[in-house]
Amino acid sequence: MLNIIRKSSILLPITLISCVMTKNNFNPLKNPASYQKEYNESLENNNAFWLKQTSILDWIQPPTIANGSDFSKSTDVKWFEDGKLNACYNCVDRHAQKTPHKTAIIFEADQPGKTIHITYRELYEKVCQFSGVLKALGVKKGDVVTLYLPTIPETIYAMLACTRLGAIHSVVFAGFSATALASRIVQAKPRLIITTETNSRGGKTFSLKKNVYEALKENLLNKNNTVEKVLLVGQSLENKNTDSVSINIKEFNFESLSKLTQPVYDYAEMCATDPLFILHTSGSAGIPRGIVHSTGGYLVYVALTHKFVFDLQENDVYFCTADIGWITGHSYGVYGPFANGATTVLFQGTPTYPDASRFWKIIDENKVTIFYTAPTALRSLRSLGDDFVNHASLESLRILASVGEAIDPSTWQWFFEKIGKSHCPIMDTWWQTESGGVLICPLLKQPQKPGCAAKPFFGIEPRILHEVGGNPEEKEALWIKQSWPGLAMGVWGDQQCFKQSYSSENFYNSGDGAKIDEDGDIWVLGRIDDVLNVSGHRMSSAELERAVISHPAVSEACVVGYPHDIKGQGIFVFAIPRNNVSIQSEHLCEGIKQNIRKEIGPIATPDVILLVSDLPKTRSGKIVRRILRKIVSKDFENLGDTTTLGNPSCIETIIMQVLNKNK
Ligand code: WT7
Repeated sequence: MLNIIRKSSILLPITLISCVMTKNNFNPLKNPASYQKEYNESLENNNAFWLKQTSILDWIQPPTIANGSDFSKSTDVKWFEDGKLNACYNCVDRHAQKTPHKTAIIFEADQPGKTIHITYRELYEKVCQFSGVLKALGVKKGDVVTLYLPTIPETIYAMLACTRLGAIHSVVFAGFSATALASRIVQAKPRLIITTETNSRGGKTFSLKKNVYEALKENLLNKNNTVEKVLLVGQSLENKNTDSVSINIKEFNFESLSKLTQPVYDYAEMCATDPLFILHTSGSAGIPRGIVHSTGGYLVYVALTHKFVFDLQENDVYFCTADIGWITGHSYGVYGPFANGATTVLFQGTPTYPDASRFWKIIDENKVTIFYTAPTALRSLRSLGDDFVNHASLESLRILASVGEAIDPSTWQWFFEKIGKSHCPIMDTWWQTESGGVLICPLLKQPQKPGCAAKPFFGIEPRILHEVGGNPEEKEALWIKQSWPGLAMGVWGDQQCFKQSYSSENFYNSGDGAKIDEDGDIWVLGRIDDVLNVSGHRMSSAELERAVISHPAVSEACVVGYPHDIKGQGIFVFAIPRNNVSIQSEHLCEGIKQNIRKEIGPIATPDVILLVSDLPKTRSGKIVRRILRKIVSKDFENLGDTTTLGNPSCIETIIMQVLNKNK
């Protein structure tokens, strides 16, 4: 049982606040008094507030119960449990009826100059056609379908088609390796995988189908394969893959199958608490967790937050740069905007291809009004110089937003002045895969504080708490009281795993450190558990360490994050080579790097690998990550008490090696 105490009496003064006034006048939420009134009401009459908000969707049977969760008894998350609806109907059909000619998707492929507009009517036809193909392949309500697909319209059709039939999609980020894909398949247990021949990103071509077959072979070898069929979308290569035959998996081509099947215009009646999708993320335990989101609660929450946080208006052109394989792509690239009938830019490529003006060109060419991106992308664009921005007009922009990590004040200023021309407010949105949607953001509060996520969304009650008996050096963590409709229902196949995030007193632990200033605004300070945030990607040190230790010449490893100018955090690997193995250091480092790329993918490529002969350990032999974290951050003054270690003398050697490495 977790005991927590509140530390609310201490309001920490934040000295570095520089305030900027913005000129936008648009949303009732910008008025602090009306925000406060609505917010208080949302907490006081939480159930009534949320029931009222369900009208943002069309229900087959509107719910009469809001929150049926009681964490003191169980961790089952139940929102709107007697409500019935279909998420695809809400994202597609109702807009195809009301605004058939409105653009739903503006697709910008990796190669510039190939913009495609897809209206809500066309989206409807495509999704119904896709549903027909899935139905022909035997997909039914409750089935899991894995999607290993890039950020392309077909992925959206596939996601929404699953939803239409009541099937649960599990999208695996297309940048993951075959091994990472294999473990996610094992956890989700799909019978069908949808993929495509190749992905084009940043001018480079990546083979996805090849990874799928590698993953399937790996699972077959380990006798835990559930997959029977592979569906290929997009262009397929002429030379038919013989892999499928050799492993007895049936391969289908979307193009040919769609000619033989009828579209499905019906949609499944789903309970609000039926799973909508599974999405894997990293927790501190080191095993990827398949987070399960609900149909009703999730959709209400993402629709509502998308509307208010971005102040969505009828004619907005909304551009979210996130990859569809992450939660931002799901919540604010697909479900939020489509539930609201918005026009969304879908971008397959990278910010710097063909050059660093790509985002700005997309914004100018499509008259984007709302732009949602990540601090790491902004930092890398800024580092390439202002020339790329200076040639752009960017006058269509109205609202800017960021997510993934705290945005540092100097990047914030650049974003505000160079991109927003000093008149667009910046929504620094704090949330997580588990939260479904934005929990804390400045709303339209004035003045803005660079780097401050500021205020809770309606119905969200944040608290800064710390664990009783926890490490006194640990920073205070950000907890959320009670539940909210966007909160994940649990972890696929392992509800107990989710339980660890909840205290018996009904508090959800985010794992992030935070402070609250004298205005009551929240500043998120980064992870306090063993999770790294590299370019906005959450990775657990345990997962990375496993990949390092899988090298036969490594006996022990420890992976920590350190401050990195572009990525936010870089990956620092400490490895102890085995005594009896003679291998050249460069070869070993290269081998470790390749292992990580193979087990997880190129996004996890380490920035520094240091071979050491010993690591600081407790007397019982546990590596003390906290000390290594301080060393790689060059915070040598604050290593804390090292006298209780079993081997304190190794610290000096490690410090020397780290300093030498940086020369
Ligand atoms: C972790 C969640 C939410 C979608 C993208 C990442 C960090 C995210 C912020 C922000 C400070 C942030 C936190 C959080 N984070 N947004 N605005 N300010 N930190 O989703 O992979 O589940 O990662 O990202 O550490 O816990 P995720």
